[in-house]
Amino acid sequence: MTDRPKKLHVKTYGCQMNVYDSERMAEAMGPQGYVTTDRPEEADLILLNTCHIREKAAEKVYSELGRLKTLKADNPDLRIGVAGCVAQAEGAEIMARQPAVDLVVGPQAYHRLPDLVARARAGEQALDTDMPEEDKFEHLPQARTPAARPTAFLTVQEGCDKFCAFCVVPYTRGAEVSRPAKRLLSEARALVDRGVKEITLLGQNVNAYHGDGPEGGTWSLADLIWALDGIDGLERIRFTTSHPNDFTDDLIAAHGTCAKLMPYLHLPVQAGSDRILKAMNRKHTAAQYIELINRLRAARPDLLLSGDFIVGFPGETDADFEDTLRLVEQVGYGQAYSFKYSARPGTPAAEKQGVSDAVASERLQRLQALLTRQQQAAQQAMVGRETSVLFEKAGRLPGQLVGKSEYLQAVHVEAPDSLRGQVAHVRVTEAKANSLAAVLI
Ligand code: SAH
Ligand code: SF4
Ligand code: F3S
Repeated sequence: MTDRPKKLHVKTYGCQMNVYDSERMAEAMGPQGYVTTDRPEEADLILLNTCHIREKAAEKVYSELGRLKTLKADNPDLRIGVAGCVAQAEGAEIMARQPAVDLVVGPQAYHRLPDLVARARAGEQALDTDMPEEDKFEHLPQARTPAARPTAFLTVQEGCDKFCAFCVVPYTRGAEVSRPAKRLLSEARALVDRGVKEITLLGQNVNAYHGDGPEGGTWSLADLIWALDGIDGLERIRFTTSHPNDFTDDLIAAHGTCAKLMPYLHLPVQAGSDRILKAMNRKHTAAQYIELINRLRAARPDLLLSGDFIVGFPGETDADFEDTLRLVEQVGYGQAYSFKYSARPGTPAAEKQGVSDAVASERLQRLQALLTRQQQAAQQAMVGRETSVLFEKAGRLPGQLVGKSEYLQAVHVEAPDSLRGQVAHVRVTEAKANSLAAVLI
């Protein structure tokens, strides 16, 4: 046995919560003598942190496993694990379908990862898709994002009780759980001490946050945001993803009154037809969504909105789809994600007949063309305006830094390297398809 540190390679798919979780898993393996590597060829342990949201996302995992298993020929000590939402949804089936997999761990069992790896190394069955009562984060090391990055994610709420008819998340992430505010504030302070300037609060239904307050009682997301607002050195706060039905008055108001809360909001609606919204079990109408947007914009007129859309949900007619286009026209998004409906095993909608792929593709194209036009208009509208930018890294050209505007747009600016990791004020000079050019003020 040499004392060379063992190497861990983590590959992350899916949403930002998986990014956060991958860091926590790497930290959990640190005390076991593992250091991380970007190169799977030199790893002793490879973890795929997977996403089950659409069929394509889930299938990607198996093609990656097919490639990775060949590495075992060169390194008999290599162990391969599958974590995340595919692990939760498929469990032992993964090992049956791809015998090169040594370990399967669901999103609520990451604190048991060291033990599972030890079992996999001993040649024992290593499968854990329990959803235990205890909070995994209480058993995982506190987040320690390296200071080189001025932005960080912080999971405050996990799981979903909404059961939209198309969605696997309530099954893969389990019931909604909010972390205690005290722990979140100490994690946030530690991040800020390490140079983090912007924290994005994460949750599958982040605005449903209702955690224990530090002095008893229950805190809302707005309470938490106001407490974070009081942390010196933290300059920007964001949160994602929200559900329209959980937007409380205090949270709407915070958009107008909390200077650190950035004017960008991801608020998925999925569809614009009330008939389809009902079939999706969204429990709100298109008009209620628009009304909420109006209230948010009354609080913060420059709010930039982003959304998620699904086309081709079972039963969606041409008229339903036109309703979606109409809603998009009415709202005016600065950014959006749109997907063809994918039937997911175990969800209520999977029992129903979807629309043909040709029709769904055509609708997706039309929707995306509209959303792209809106995004470009929003980029163009920035020209001549002032905004702050948090510089994250070097740009493509020498002397350039790249960062994000308040509205989460990528901005490149000629700026001294000393501004890396800092917030500076700029004036936008030019809009490109996916980024803005600006000058320091
Ligand atoms: N909790 C978040 C995100 C859920 S997943 C929310 O409620 O918005 C991210 C997006 O994936 C969803 O908003 C939805 O647009 C899309 N999505 C989820 N299930 C899908 C499916 N079966 N087919 C296609 N898109 C899906
Ligand atoms: Fe899925 Fe709906 Fe929950 Fe979002 S709110 S995670 S789309 S079930
Ligand atoms: Fe995917 Fe799971 Fe996130 S299904 S989108 S990784 S919650």
